[in-house]
Amino acid sequence: MEKDHPLRCPVCLGRLRKNDKSYVCGKNHSFDIARQGYVNLLPVQNKHSRSPGDTKAMLLARREFLYAGFYEPVCRDAAELINKYKKTQYPLIADIGSGEGYYTQQLQRLCSADCIGVDISKEAAKMSCSRSRDILWIVATASHLPVEDESIDVITAVFSLFVNDEYARVLKKGGIVVEISAGNRHLTELKSIIYDEVFIQVKHQSAFSDSFSELCSFDREFRIKTDNAQLRALLGMTPHTHRISKEQSSRLESISELELTVNYLVRVLEKK
Ligand SMILES: C[S@@+](CC[C@H](N)C(=O)[O-])C[C@H]1O[C@@H](n2cnc3c(N)ncnc32)[C@H](O)[C@@H]1O
Repeated sequence: MEKDHPLRCPVCLGRLRKNDKSYVCGKNHSFDIARQGYVNLLPVQNKHSRSPGDTKAMLLARREFLYAGFYEPVCRDAAELINKYKKTQYPLIADIGSGEGYYTQQLQRLCSADCIGVDISKEAAKMSCSRSRDILWIVATASHLPVEDESIDVITAVFSLFVNDEYARVLKKGGIVVEISAGNRHLTELKSIIYDEVFIQVKHQSAFSDSFSELCSFDREFRIKTDNAQLRALLGMTPHTHRISKEQSSRLESISELELTVNYLVRVLEKK
């Protein structure tokens, strides 16, 4: 049976209904479903550049790296927390900043969930369609989610954004946010190769408003061993790839294997 997702029009905020090839609101604002299957609900005024978000090259690198399964423990943590704290057997999950769709697809399976993958990058939504046609992939910004108030059971934000008011608006009462963000020691070995000096940044999770209470929070660390191609893919999927010179990037060439620290912070917040 066709799922009726709680989407709202990014122009007039009216409820969107799915037709054959588009989503349309009561005021006839219409959004075509792309050939690949995603829908673009990002109006120009919410677009702060021509092609916001991760580029195709970054997304391909991300897909190549994730394909090796290095971040499976991250996925398992997210799934276990959702299954522990979810209030309904078959939750509706909105995965925000879903990238090329790795976590969204895994969470759908591991949590018996219906999933919406949201990313500001059109390339991300396009690429995600090849992962699953059973997930609704949308182009939108985390700060103006095109979904109805109090309609989502779980928000996941894996290495992406936490947006207090917007997440509070769309979550049902008792709904949860599972947030995973990079920790202080995340990938330090990679940074030590490409940068002359590495400053350990003390990472803090962003403050949350009175709309939420914290259910749990912890720091996780494990080690992975990458070969040269995986290391390059890892560099390619991070913002470092745009920040460094050719010379810095070429420092990776001679490295055949590298052991890396994966360090991340996990937090679960509940909407009051
Ligand atoms: C570091 S990547 C993480 C992707 C995915 N969660 C993963 O871990 O594989 C961050 C993603 O957030 C997206 N993004 C950046 N700003 C955004 C925004 N304002 N709203 C929605 N997505 C955004 C980027 O396009 C990118 O795909």
